[in-house]
Amino acid sequence: MRDIRNIVILTGAGISAESGVATFRGPDGLWEGHRVEDVATPEAFRRDPALVQKFYDARRAKLKSVEPNAAHLALARLDAEWPGELLIVTQNVDDLHERAGAKRVLHMHGELKSAWCLACDERMTWEEELSSGPACPECGLAGRLRPDIVWFGEMPYEMDRIEGAIREAGLFVSIGTSGAIYPAAGFVQTARYCGADTLEMNLEPSLGSVYFHESRVGPAGSLVPTWVEGMLGGEHRSSRA
Ligand code: OAD
Repeated sequence: MRDIRNIVILTGAGISAESGVATFRGPDGLWEGHRVEDVATPEAFRRDPALVQKFYDARRAKLKSVEPNAAHLALARLDAEWPGELLIVTQNVDDLHERAGAKRVLHMHGELKSAWCLACDERMTWEEELSSGPACPECGLAGRLRPDIVWFGEMPYEMDRIEGAIREAGLFVSIGTSGAIYPAAGFVQTARYCGADTLEMNLEPSLGSVYFHESRVGPAGSLVPTWVEGMLGGEHRSSRA
């Protein structure tokens, strides 16, 4: 038996589902009525910038009407109380981990509340719409801001930091992600290779379920608080040598 000190937690759309944020791969295969390749690729943005800007404007506006759920709150509590290293790596572009109070959060696919100026390359906090082509507050040029979201074909953010944390982790936990999109879907294999325990919590077994030592099936809003309670109550010893 050994103590687990360092934890990496990967979250996906499923953790925000109970807050009312749509997941990407719904039963109809569409994301809020759109094919992903029509709204979440650089090609889509070049082809029809107005459609893409309006799509993300709507997602950004929706954030104002949703609240963190019990799973976000439980992770924020773990972040505040866990004595070792902890990193929440989210694929989500919403701000629900932060609004729940979590501090050690990294958005590998970008954030709805961030804009990126294609003229001056600055990134900045952005709360309003982008489809009206506002001027960049840094360089003054109008119509050059895009959502600071990692689209298909673009490199996720902070991969070095994420992989470093996974290599040091004693426990890797994946919550609410289908395991369909790399590189995030491959984190579990890196974690196992480096000796971490691996746990998945998802509404259904994910595509990568077989790689996890343990899979808990159910809604994040009930599974995650129970798991956090256990971790903070001392159930955090690895069962493996
Ligand atoms: P998906 O929509 O692919 O998967 C969401 C997962 O959450 C599914 O396996 C659901 O079964 C599960 N789920 C749904 N409700 C849940 C609940 N209440 N509790 C627990 N699990 C639940 O979303 P992601 O895996 O996050 O990338 O998608 C990964 C990436 O693909 C996204 O970040 C985005 C997308 O295209 C980019 O935009 C680059």
